[in-house]
Amino acid sequence: MTDLSNKVVVIMGASSGIGAATARRLAKDGAKLVISARRLERLEEIAKEFPKGQVLPVKADVTNFKEVKAAVETAVKEFGRIDVIYNNAGIMPLANLSEGRRDEWQNMLNINVMGPLNGIAAALPIMKKQGYGHIITTDSVAGHVVAPGMAVYAGTKYAIRIIMDGLRMEEAANHIKTTIITPGSTQSELVQKINDPETRKENADFWKNVEGLTADQIAQSVEFAINTDHNESISEIIVRPTLQSL
Ligand SMILES: NC(=O)c1ccc[n+]([C@@H]2O[C@H](COP(=O)([O-])OP(=O)(O)OC[C@H]3O[C@@H](n4cnc5c(N)ncnc54)[C@H](OP(=O)(O)O)[C@@H]3O)[C@@H](O)[C@H]2O)c1
Repeated sequence: MTDLSNKVVVIMGASSGIGAATARRLAKDGAKLVISARRLERLEEIAKEFPKGQVLPVKADVTNFKEVKAAVETAVKEFGRIDVIYNNAGIMPLANLSEGRRDEWQNMLNINVMGPLNGIAAALPIMKKQGYGHIITTDSVAGHVVAPGMAVYAGTKYAIRIIMDGLRMEEAANHIKTTIITPGSTQSELVQKINDPETRKENADFWKNVEGLTADQIAQSVEFAINTDHNESISEIIVRPTLQSL
C-alpha cells in the first residue's frame, strides 16, 4: 500500500469524476485533504467516508481568486502546510466555432485557464516560503492535438500545458515540482455537460467505443506523481485508453 500520511493535498474540482476519484484514492492512502468545488454536498459525501478531520470540504469557484485562496489557506490553517495543489477543475462544452457560443468560450477560458492560474497564484507564495511544494494540473490529450468541434477546449488545454511548463522552468531552482496530468477519454460527468445534444451523443459514443478509462485509472497516475522522492519530479503523464488513436 502507498503511504501518503505525510502529505497535505488541496484538490480543486473534487466533486465528481477524476477529482473525486483522486480524493478517495489519496485519502484511502492516508493523505490529509482539502477538497473543493462548487457542489458542496458532493464534497461532504466524500468527506464522510473518511475519519473526521482528514478530508475537509471547502466550497469554491475556481474563477474566484478569493475563494481559491481560502481553500488553500484552510490547508495551511488546519494541517500546517501544503505539499500539493491539484488544479483539476475543467469544463468541455464542445461545438464548432461557427456556432458562435461565446459564453461557452468565455467559461472555458475562465475555468480551464484562469482556474489553474488562480490555484498557482494562491499556492505558490506559500510553497516558496516553505521551500517545497508540488503543483499538478489536469491537461488533456486535447492539449496536444486538435479536432473539429474542439478548437476552444483544445486551445485552453494547450495554453495551460505551456503555462505549466513555464512554471516548471521558473520554479525548478526553488524545489517546486510541477506535473501535467494528460488524460485521454475518461468516464466522468464531462461529456454529459456538453450543451449541444448531437455533439454530446457523438462524444458519449466515442468515449464508449474506445472503452474510456475509469476516473480512478487517472487518479492512480496523480498518486504516482505525488509519491516521489524530493529530487524526482514527473513533468507529464499521458494516459489514453488503448483503443484511442487521437
Ligand atoms: N473525462 C475526460 O475524458 C477528460 C479527458 C481529458 C481531460 N479531462 C480533464 O479532467 C478534468 C476533470 O474533469 P472530469 O472528466 O473529471 O469531469 P467532471 O466529472 O465534470 O468533473 C469536473 C470537476 O470540475 C469542477 N468544476 C467545474 N467548473 C468549476 C468551477 N467553476 N469552479 C470549481 N470547480 C469547477 C466540477 O465541480 P463543480 O461542478 O461541483 O464545481 C467537477 O468537480 C477537467 O479539467 C477536464 O478537462 C477529462
